Amino acid sequence: MHRAMSLSIVILAAGQGTRMRSGLPKVLHPIGGTPLLGHVLRTARALNPARIIIVHGHGGETVRAAIAGDDLLWVEQQPQLGTGHAVMQALPHITSDSRVLVLYGDVPLLRPDSLSALLERLEDHGLALLTTHLPEPRGYGRILRDDAGRILRIVEEKDATELERKIKEVNTGILAAGAADLATWLARVGTGNAQGEYYLTDCVALAVEDGKAVGAIACHDPNEVAGVNDKLQLAQLERVYQRARARELMTSGVTVMDPERLDVRGEVSVGRDVMLDVNVVLEGRVELADGVRIGPHSVVRDCRIGPGSEVLAHSVLEEADIGPDCRIGPFARIRPGTVLHGAAHVGNFVEIKKSEVGLGSKINHLSYVGDSRVGARVNVGAGTITCNYDGANKHVTVIGDDAFIGSNAALVAPVEIGAGATIGAGSVITREAPPDTLTLTRARQTTVPGWKRPTKTPKT
Ligand code: UD1
Ligand code: MG
Repeated sequence: MHRAMSLSIVILAAGQGTRMRSGLPKVLHPIGGTPLLGHVLRTARALNPARIIIVHGHGGETVRAAIAGDDLLWVEQQPQLGTGHAVMQALPHITSDSRVLVLYGDVPLLRPDSLSALLERLEDHGLALLTTHLPEPRGYGRILRDDAGRILRIVEEKDATELERKIKEVNTGILAAGAADLATWLARVGTGNAQGEYYLTDCVALAVEDGKAVGAIACHDPNEVAGVNDKLQLAQLERVYQRARARELMTSGVTVMDPERLDVRGEVSVGRDVMLDVNVVLEGRVELADGVRIGPHSVVRDCRIGPGSEVLAHSVLEEADIGPDCRIGPFARIRPGTVLHGAAHVGNFVEIKKSEVGLGSKINHLSYVGDSRVGARVNVGAGTITCNYDGANKHVTVIGDDAFIGSNAALVAPVEIGAGATIGAGSVITREAPPDTLTLTRARQTTVPGWKRPTKTPKT
């Protein structure tokens, strides 16, 4: 089978996934934040195929809606009569001079390298199988070879004899062959087996019958070819995946305090000397520049964090752009649309939403800053609230450079605080506060002379 022949990839995903006991179709369950099928597609696309065909059944519409791609052809298999029947549904959409690679939608950790090796094997064989060796092969199809080691056929567990079940070399289900060959073999596959299904694996014996050589590539890491059938296997592969991500990060120089307690659910790019403490969750697209430190139990999603910035324990950051040398947390919440320009401090129990904070400004305690533009070197006192919502619309608060906002101020937007202005503690500011002056709204403090605290009247 020549490598110049076009490649079609068929992904089998019609199975019910009953053992997941879930309303969500099996292939949409995530590993590292990406659906199982998403992982398979990423691997498939890495091989630059001419087309990708997904054979779906139960929950097809939900799967289609969740998995995007103009390069995908969706084919329904109804009813589901076995893996051979599933591939048969895809064949009419594949030109006969194409190579066909069959993948499973619920085998997420397969690497493109293994598939390239499999396709290379197809160059001098009529059929190429991806196999693996399992000490505990229960449930899998076994690879039967003759005395010279040539592959003869595959026998499914349910159809196997005692002796055949002792074979540790198993079928991963992943195989490659020419489209024309597959069509002739599948036309001859019957259902005379323990499950009454059309087995794709029967193609092996038919290839041998036709005098075509059957080759195999053994995959040495069983996790790579492991499928997900229930929540236990999902959790196991999640850990395998996370360990690999932690290893990647450590290899690129990140200090990971405990590789068993890091979760990456997206793409992370890192500079030098980045430190990730325990139980950090990184989601979406995260960029961490040189020297960034993320404290324990923090969640960072879709953020860029500039050099030297530190996120302290228990902070949550989403869709934010953090400049250099900022200090955030502990217990801070940075929400979408926030930009910290640099050397800003955001302390405990501070929430910032869709706001820009200038160089060196400090919002250290118990504040809400929303829809605001805060200048440079501003000090926002404890308990300050920007009242950005009037119950119908959101309004903007503007705070000029070097302003000082006293504690427990309520800035009722739309409102502007001038540069260098000081706002007295406890003020409710509803109009513009001029620059470089003190503005406060506060009843004057009085002391009542001769006032006596009431005393309890004795019971009679
Ligand atoms: C299959 C192989 C077995 C192999 C094992 C590896 C056959 C007959 N057996 O067995 O040799 O060791 O996988 O995991 O191929 N599917 C469809 N339509 C169907 C049936 C299945 O799309 O009608 C899809 C499933 O969604 C799944 C894949 O094909 O992704 C495998 O199906 P499954 O029923 O799990 O096959 P096994 O019995 O495990
Ligand atoms: Mg299976």
